Amino acid sequence: MIIVAHTPAEVREIVDAWKVQNLSIGLVPTMGFLHEGHASLIKKAREENDRVIVSDFVNPIQFGPSEDFEAYPRDFEADKALCEELGADMIFNPEAPDMYAENFSTYVNVDEITDVLCGAKRPGHFKGVCTVVSKLFNISGADRAYFGQKDAQQLAVIRRMVRDLNFPIEIVGCPIIREDDGLAKSSRNTYLNEAERKAALVLNRSLQKGMELILDDGIDDAKTVKDAIRMEIEQEGLAMIDYIEIVEWDSLANVNKIDGPVLCAIAVYIGKTRLIDNFIVGEV
Ligand code: PAF
Repeated sequence: MIIVAHTPAEVREIVDAWKVQNLSIGLVPTMGFLHEGHASLIKKAREENDRVIVSDFVNPIQFGPSEDFEAYPRDFEADKALCEELGADMIFNPEAPDMYAENFSTYVNVDEITDVLCGAKRPGHFKGVCTVVSKLFNISGADRAYFGQKDAQQLAVIRRMVRDLNFPIEIVGCPIIREDDGLAKSSRNTYLNEAERKAALVLNRSLQKGMELILDDGIDDAKTVKDAIRMEIEQEGLAMIDYIEIVEWDSLANVNKIDGPVLCAIAVYIGKTRLIDNFIVGEV
């Protein structure tokens, strides 16, 4: 039976006992409403650790005032069943006051690489992510934590934070998991109606085009690649581009000429739903 913990103290008590037995711990941080993308992280964590903790917490401080915190899909019972099926040892499902006590006033901020891509569009988002992830690292005492490449900037930011603050944890980046038709798995896909669901395929389609230009045709001019992606997306009536960027992986510095590892990342509104997707040329 999977252990369900609701408070940091409950997690710590169990983790302390695991530590005494020298057991390694893998953490999969999630906001719940788990899909196959999360399942792939849990499976990898299961392979590489003696104990696996999945955190399931819709973190209020990483949502802006006009974002979808209230609407964000939640289904704890389904999450718990999936974690159990995948062999996770514990699911940590706190309430906001368990994580943020009254007068909570300590935040973790990573400068510069949070000023671009999604960070530029969602002020304060990564401060909220880094703060909750730091707390989860401390609460879980994990040896490894698993993050998907779908949120590539998040992965780069967390790696930078871990390096800069000497967190004793290994960050494992895992590939994007897609639907059969290519749409990247995301909890937010549930917001799409039928027409929008079809339109959303333009994200992967346009990225495929960009990837072909770089890898097959040897195009090394970032603007040419971004223009081609833009043209493809603009042909889709329901899509509105938020950004198309090509940056160095994983410094996220601006790139004009593609001559090393790069992240090509896009954010596109399909109707009211903002979706992100990307590809990385080089090692994740
Ligand atoms: O990627 C997510 O689901 C969240 O940003 C995370 C890492 C669980 C922090 O709330």
